[in-house]
Amino acid sequence: MTTWTPDSWRALPIQQQPSYQDQQLLQQVEQQLHRYPPLVFAQETRDLHTQLGQVAQGKGFLLQGGDCAESFNDFNAPKIRDTFKVLLQMAVVLTYAGGLPVVKVARMAGQYAKPRSSDLETINGVSLPSYRGDIVNSFEFTESARQPDPNRLVTAYHHSAATLNLLRAFAQGGLADLHQVSKWNMGFVESNPLKDRYHNVAQRIQEALRFMEICGITAQNSPSIRETQLYTSHEALLLNYEEALTRRDSLTGDWYDCSAHMVWIGERTRQLDHAHLEFFRGIHNPVGVKIGPGMQPDELIRLIDALNPDNTPGRLTLITRMGADKLADKLPALVRKVKAEGRTVVWSSDPMHGNTVKASNDFKTRDFEAILREIRSFFAVHKAEGTHAGGIHLEMTGEHVTECTGGAYGLSEHDLSKRYFTQCDPRLNADQVLELAFLIADTLSATRK
Ligand code: PEP
Ligand code: CO
Repeated sequence: MTTWTPDSWRALPIQQQPSYQDQQLLQQVEQQLHRYPPLVFAQETRDLHTQLGQVAQGKGFLLQGGDCAESFNDFNAPKIRDTFKVLLQMAVVLTYAGGLPVVKVARMAGQYAKPRSSDLETINGVSLPSYRGDIVNSFEFTESARQPDPNRLVTAYHHSAATLNLLRAFAQGGLADLHQVSKWNMGFVESNPLKDRYHNVAQRIQEALRFMEICGITAQNSPSIRETQLYTSHEALLLNYEEALTRRDSLTGDWYDCSAHMVWIGERTRQLDHAHLEFFRGIHNPVGVKIGPGMQPDELIRLIDALNPDNTPGRLTLITRMGADKLADKLPALVRKVKAEGRTVVWSSDPMHGNTVKASNDFKTRDFEAILREIRSFFAVHKAEGTHAGGIHLEMTGEHVTECTGGAYGLSEHDLSKRYFTQCDPRLNADQVLELAFLIADTLSATRK
């Protein structure tokens, strides 16, 4: 194998990249970013690695979630706060139900680059470059908006820095107080049409907190009640950006991609001999790879060995996204092979990307029932194989959007047009996320027994 350098990916074939007209400007921007401070610190990334190592060994659960694509325009504190809140609420329910620590990783502060099924988008006979995320071009359907602009890399950096700053403040500054978070859950339960189903779990969480308080464990004297740790992640698709933020850690001498704590490779860019695999093999972050229904057991072992040759627990998370109807058929062979070959990974379920459908009114949507079915099927497979269902990966928002159908409020295809704001894939809204949390809680408690 050749020597790895932060730019060794450049010699290899690469998919899903924009074609920049102004290469000189691109280089200037990359050099500028290279001089900027890293967004995360290597030690935090190592802490996440350690925690994911616990998850890989069945002693924790990974909750990863956030926007499909973050947006430069729709960028404000309430939006960041609301997604933070729902992630935390969900984590509390899962922690209680699963009896395991939940590692929280946001799809935020850098989730700006998108793979697309086609290079061009055609509307009324006009073809323009596809929207590839705000780090590349703009969503608006005009020739100038769709032109890839290198300056957007710097804008993405600044937006990520501001988002991360607020997330850190929320996590440490009082908004993560366990008592508050579980009170928000009570609010959700009381106003939900299916409240009887969730009441029991919510009530028991409240009782557990009251008991701890009587024992003298309070937000005032225990940081673990008052504060939390929320890590960041995104699909590291635009390698020009990732390379510019890759730094050698002064303590260990190892390379880290300091654009986020965790980064993943998408289903469309995980070819073994291509650029993304090359870049990822040299960085020391915990990394993820999306696994679609076409993955074969032997290919998976080669992929695992390319990314985690030392078989270090926590280094690699396999994020399966098969579709509710395919998972039970495709996942067992993969899980069996990985187990038989003695490879240690975190198995996480993305129940979103295999369940995208077009509604009769042309909206791209996902049905709550299909999402839940894929998750339940994921748990069932791991139970049958004697492996740990280690996490879930969701596209979600704290806002009250109408992008996915179904759930307790019975969103129909006709409701989709009401608040359909996503720039890319349909996300679960705050109510749907919490409903999912309570429903997964049942499955988790059953697995525990
Ligand atoms: C995504 O996570 O937004 C995505 C594009 O996923 P996948 O690579 O699994 O299609
Ligand atoms: Co998506």
